[in-house]
Amino acid sequence: MEKNIAVIWGDCASPEIVTQAIRVLDRIGEKFGHTFNYTDVAMGGEAIDKYGDPLPQHELDKCLASDSVLLGAIGGPKWEGMAGDKRPEKGLLRMRAGMGLYSNNRPTKIWPQLAPASPLKAEIVAQGIDFVIVRELTGGVYFGDRQVNILESGEKQAVDLMPYAEYEIERIGRIGFDTAMKRRKKLCCVDKANVLETSRLWREVMHRLQAEYPEVEYSEMFVDNCAMQIVKNPSQFDVIVTENMFGDILSDEASMITGSIGMIPSSSLGQGTCGVYEPIHGSAPDIAGKDVINPTACILSVAMMLRFSFGMSAEADAIEKAVSDVLDQGLRTADNMSEGCTQLGCIAMGDAIVKALC
Ligand code: IPM
Ligand code: MN
Repeated sequence: MEKNIAVIWGDCASPEIVTQAIRVLDRIGEKFGHTFNYTDVAMGGEAIDKYGDPLPQHELDKCLASDSVLLGAIGGPKWEGMAGDKRPEKGLLRMRAGMGLYSNNRPTKIWPQLAPASPLKAEIVAQGIDFVIVRELTGGVYFGDRQVNILESGEKQAVDLMPYAEYEIERIGRIGFDTAMKRRKKLCCVDKANVLETSRLWREVMHRLQAEYPEVEYSEMFVDNCAMQIVKNPSQFDVIVTENMFGDILSDEASMITGSIGMIPSSSLGQGTCGVYEPIHGSAPDIAGKDVINPTACILSVAMMLRFSFGMSAEADAIEKAVSDVLDQGLRTADNMSEGCTQLGCIAMGDAIVKALC
């Protein structure tokens, strides 16, 4: 097969991990007889520097014309002071909206080899950690109207609205149920229905969907309690479906219990098969240029792309197996290092994974 991939190299330490992910893709291409063509896309800080805009339309168009997008991570201190619509993050949000990517899938799975790197007690880890956060990605407070008002007192007041329409809840709710059907058939809707009107509407829509999925064991949980349950008893979760900002926060929390945020990939999809694949971690400005960032989350994002967008399951399995083999060999990066293991830099970890693919 031949596939056209838009590549967003990203900011700070991001190009280091994307380089390793592309090496892995090229190796998969050779091994399985596929051709992957790459088109560079500037987004985030890089695009601000080049075009004064975090995602110009011509760059978004390249993403829309591709079979899928591989993204590292964007942002950094250099662009921090900029106005709201000139921030690197705005490019990412515009891409999610412009490509209609409303469904973000963030797996939280502990690799058995990394159990010692988890900050949780061994007996909790031993119960198993394997759940998926299905995060709504194009609605809610991220995309609602925002403004700064001047009050009579002269003080400023800032407002961020959190709108959700029924159709937006229904389409992500359905993905939650469908994801559960392919797994252990448990779905938990996480919200703040004791306070928020949007959460009450979520529940109303979820209850309608529930009738279509009688096999799924459906439950609901407040987000504050969920934050606690993720560290107290993570094995209770199979699939969590939640709105945009709750999903953002919970997925960072969830990644930590697996030993390292440097291991968690993600997919963002909409109606079609063209998606964006990226690690859930940031651009790691503090370690940029030092060859210490873990490329694994970006490499596993490639595996997700092959599986979800290109229907290449054997290829995706091969990458996941290579990652597992490398962990078996006791090879680690700084973020998930534990006693008795060998610490590698980013390039050497890429080398090890490519070698394990051979
Ligand atoms: C993420 C990131 C983004 C988000 C930022 C960079 C806008 O934290 O993908 O989780 O909040 O969605
Ligand atoms: Mn985040």
